[in-house]
Amino acid sequence: MKWLAAFALILGSTMVYADGNKLSVPANPKWKEECGSCHIAYPPQLLTGDNWQRLMGGLDKHFGANATLNPGDNQEILDFLQRHAGRGGRNSASSLRISDTPWFTREHREVSNNTWSDPAVKSRSNCTACHVNAERGDWSERGIRIPGGQRGEGQGERHERGGERDDD
Ligand code: HEC
Ligand code: HEC
Repeated sequence: MKWLAAFALILGSTMVYADGNKLSVPANPKWKEECGSCHIAYPPQLLTGDNWQRLMGGLDKHFGANATLNPGDNQEILDFLQRHAGRGGRNSASSLRISDTPWFTREHREVSNNTWSDPAVKSRSNCTACHVNAERGDWSERGIRIPGGQRGEGQGERHERGGERDDD
């Protein structure tokens, strides 16, 4: 059965790469402006359409902030988010946080608690603390810098999690 486990690992890491590359969306100035002013405009693919609908239905109580839009803009942005939304349980969280989805937890399992509580990170929602090019839509591994310095520039330091070292 060993080969099966190895195959699953290879498949798993292929999906990881695919994730980072699949997050581009067509330009939508309204979304970028309204949803990118307090934090980055989070990629629509990382929550389900249902989650986006609930989130857009509660902008007056948006994680402690008031992000209310006029009904027309709200509908336009919701349509855009749903058109590019992710699917399935892995992209869904009852808290409506990307950072609480199973996908996020799995993708970030190698990030230590010390890193999450680093003053330069503060919140899991603060994607650009580590994904330095995310504002430009680049979520690739090349663009990841861990505050406190776990991870350098080089490709060589990429696979730090034990046991999965030989998957490439
Ligand atoms: C503390 C640093 C940190 C923060 C904050 C962070 N990430 Fe990450 N992220 C990582 C690391 C490290 C990986 C690489 C995991 C791996 O492949 O080994 C990663 C991987 C990813 C990937 C997959 C990239 C690829 O192609 O392999 C995506 C997409 C991603 N994160 C999105 C997000 C989003 C969205 C947020 C904010 C809601 C976020 N991240 C916050 C450190 C962070
Ligand atoms: C007035 C400021 C403000 C505006 C405008 C705003 N947000 Fe937020 N948003 C916040 C705050 C504050 C948080 C919580 C951040 C934290 O916990 O660190 C948040 C968190 C989020 C999260 C969860 C991040 C995570 O942890 O996964 C999503 C998703 C989100 N916002 C989407 C949107 C969308 C979509 C829009 C546009 C309709 C929007 N936001 C506009 C302030 C705002």
